[in-house]
Amino acid sequence: MMKKMPQTINPDDACQVIANTGISAGDTVVEAGAGSGAMTLILSYTVFPGKVYSYDINERFLKVAKENIDVYGKGNVEFKLKDIYEGIDEKNVDLVSLDLPEPHRVVGHAFEALRAGGFIFSFSPCIEQVIDFRRELSKYDYTEVRSIETIIREYEVKEKGTRPRTRMLGHTGYMSFARKA
Ligand SMILES: C[S@@+](CC[C@H](N)C(=O)[O-])C[C@H]1O[C@@H](n2cnc3c(N)ncnc32)[C@H](O)[C@@H]1O
Repeated sequence: MMKKMPQTINPDDACQVIANTGISAGDTVVEAGAGSGAMTLILSYTVFPGKVYSYDINERFLKVAKENIDVYGKGNVEFKLKDIYEGIDEKNVDLVSLDLPEPHRVVGHAFEALRAGGFIFSFSPCIEQVIDFRRELSKYDYTEVRSIETIIREYEVKEKGTRPRTRMLGHTGYMSFARKA
């Protein structure tokens, strides 16, 4: 079982990244923040033998993420104790994947790091973050911009009385995608 420090991304949300960007084996991904490494793990498996560069500013979280990835990952993740608002070291990247408080501050750095046709993805719990992110995206040559959320309705299946479950998860976060032209 993975250790959890900050809130991890829900697997139903994380899978949207694969569906909406088409990342696959051999690709290069830059991610921030690493958090507990839950998203890192999905990215690690999806792009193997490609590489994941995972940034975080919190040393404690980075240690937990690294422990999780050492146990469950594919050996293709490099963690960086670095503030991604200050820039991205990598070039020719296929995807920049964000789950941090101010994703709009990474939009310009991502544009420099991405290859033409590469994607930026951001997960945010609040709509204000989405608005700031979208406003910043519009200043660069990004296309295919969209924002979505995942709503899963599970069913109780009984001999007599099949119906949706009474309780469901109301909100996790908004996911925004854009592609460098
Ligand atoms: C919600 S957590 C990410 C959870 C992660 N996606 C997961 O599934 O486990 C947000 C992380 O962003 C990191 N963070 C915040 N600002 C950052 C920055 N400027 N650069 C890099 N990481 C940052 C925090 O330290 C925290 O670990």
